[in-house]
Amino acid sequence: MKVLAFETSCDETGIALVYGEKIPGGFVFKTLKSALLSQAALHAPYGGVYPNLAKREHEKNLPMLYKEFESEPADAIAVTQGPGLEPALWQGIQFAKKIAREGTLPLLAINHMEAHLVSSLAQPKIQHSNVLKNIRMFELRDTQLPVLALLISGGHTEFVLMREWFTYEVIGRTLDDAVGECFDKVARMLDLPYPGGPEISRIALEARKKKLEAECRLPRPMIHSNNLNVSFSGLKTAALYALRDKQLTEDERAAFAAEFEDAVADVFVSKTQKALKETGAKTFVIGGGVAANHYIRKRLERLVLNDFPNIEFRLPDPSITGDNAIMIAQCALAHLTAGHWNLETESAGQEIKAVGNLSIAG
Ligand code: KG4
Ligand code: ZN
Repeated sequence: MKVLAFETSCDETGIALVYGEKIPGGFVFKTLKSALLSQAALHAPYGGVYPNLAKREHEKNLPMLYKEFESEPADAIAVTQGPGLEPALWQGIQFAKKIAREGTLPLLAINHMEAHLVSSLAQPKIQHSNVLKNIRMFELRDTQLPVLALLISGGHTEFVLMREWFTYEVIGRTLDDAVGECFDKVARMLDLPYPGGPEISRIALEARKKKLEAECRLPRPMIHSNNLNVSFSGLKTAALYALRDKQLTEDERAAFAAEFEDAVADVFVSKTQKALKETGAKTFVIGGGVAANHYIRKRLERLVLNDFPNIEFRLPDPSITGDNAIMIAQCALAHLTAGHWNLETESAGQEIKAVGNLSIAG
């Protein structure tokens, strides 16, 4: 079965055509064609995503990217319904509706966070032809339930429990800023370009290599709170105060970035430990843009290895952590090939509306 998917929830315009089928114990996905256009450079002067600019760019980019897909047959169309920036989501939905109407194909509404979760559970199948670059085959199989997911992106930070396939419970979340947003804001304070997450990560790595120590210690908000919630606005403010009226050398700036990353990682390690204990999860997965962070990955890997050796830790392939349409297609295909959704009985989808604050918990 083939799904053509559209993603426009934030500042990436993505289109992907993915083939999926059921295999013993799970599913296999093969990316037949994909296109992704990032607007990051355009939003950089604003230090974050400017919604109306994102909307205009999607409007311009969708027909341009779609030209490559025009003659490709598909069984269904999938589109991100939310969460995300409503004007941006709306462009993708309108465009997907038009393509679905023209091809008399069903249109499926996909939750962006569920797509991060499902695609992160899928593991790349390395073939000789795609040695680590441009991975096209993914297998999602032998997943032991319950699954605990830590979803960390520019708009979200949440612990999600999947006891049964496609049923989600949010068991912890940020009370204020998302962790990716905090990375981007602190990067801006350090005069690093947008998006700041990868930049902080890059200079923090240098600091660790050189064994540089930061002058200040940042707080680890809510690390001892008796729940699975987190908070990042206090950390952001603490960073602002610590950097006020300071001229940092390159080494001091790198050491500060490492201290910031340490603070974030300490919080996630502590809360994940608590969540894994409390839920009895058999699989742990991380997803979303910040799941590309090398240091956070390592710290969580160490936690699972040391404290929960019987839990399987699924680390997403970095090619799939940031926003893209492949994950939207994979999520639709997982529902379809598992028999959870049936194309014959699905409505045409022409009534789908953008929902900026759509929850994964339904
Ligand atoms: O999932 P995503 O692509 O978009 C949203 O749905 O929000 O996540 C984007 C976020 C940005 O805040 C970006 O700075 C952050 O992910 N990010 C990182 C890294 N790569 C991307 N944060 C920390 N370390 C990274 N390596
Ligand atoms: Zn995302």
